[in-house]
Amino acid sequence: MRKPLVAGNWKMNKTHLDAIHFVEELGHHLADFDQDRVEVVLVPPFTALRSVQTTTEDRHQEFGLGAQNMHWESDGAFTGEVSPPMLKALRCDYVVLGHSERRELFFETDEIVNRKMKAAFEHGLVPIMCCGETDEEREAGRTQSKVETQVTQGLEGLSNERVAATVVAYEPIWAIGTGKTATPEDAQSTIAHIRYVLRSAHGPEVADAVRILYGGSVKAGNAASLFGQPDIDGGLVGGASLEAGEFAQIVKAAP
Ligand code: PGA
Repeated sequence: MRKPLVAGNWKMNKTHLDAIHFVEELGHHLADFDQDRVEVVLVPPFTALRSVQTTTEDRHQEFGLGAQNMHWESDGAFTGEVSPPMLKALRCDYVVLGHSERRELFFETDEIVNRKMKAAFEHGLVPIMCCGETDEEREAGRTQSKVETQVTQGLEGLSNERVAATVVAYEPIWAIGTGKTATPEDAQSTIAHIRYVLRSAHGPEVADAVRILYGGSVKAGNAASLFGQPDIDGGLVGGASLEAGEFAQIVKAAP
């Protein structure tokens, strides 16, 4: 059984002070919720990681911690970058890799994503590897081939054990931050295809173990129908994760 995961990707939002308030508020909203059912992961900007980690621990909250990106090297002359051991030392559990905003705005390629995937596992971080098609690719009927390439190249050279531990996030680019959401049926169909690709390359046990999230304008109002699909194991939530009340409702929508 795959445990649902709901991750809140704050992107470039919230100071560390905002983050402390958020964690307290979210704890309030989820006080009576059985958190064994759903894994909740907060993905703040680097500057708020420490505050989220300490507030979560002080309040005995069971929120996982993730970073939005990292470099693949452990240290060195890479001004402005953050390394896997730095994230591990902050008790990060997860790292989002290959988000479409990194790919489109910061020119990350599948090869770069693959290097980062390997580095994440080397340092005990679980990658949340993103994939998804543009509007143009979707119109041209290239959704499946696009995600297939991204998933295959991103996972290149990883052992079956590591592939099984990976979290994949399918995020159609046209749905990110636009208010347009893929229909649950469309999201299910692409995610089922990703699982098929994993099954073909790594076998049924690995494919059944990988958690695949949907992302792209997930909100309190549409989360239950998305998360209710057989192959969708939760969500990577951007805009709607910034408000603790709405994010809590999304968490509660997981089956
Ligand atoms: P959104 O972002 O929920 O604001 O569409 C999702 C994401 O980019 O992870």
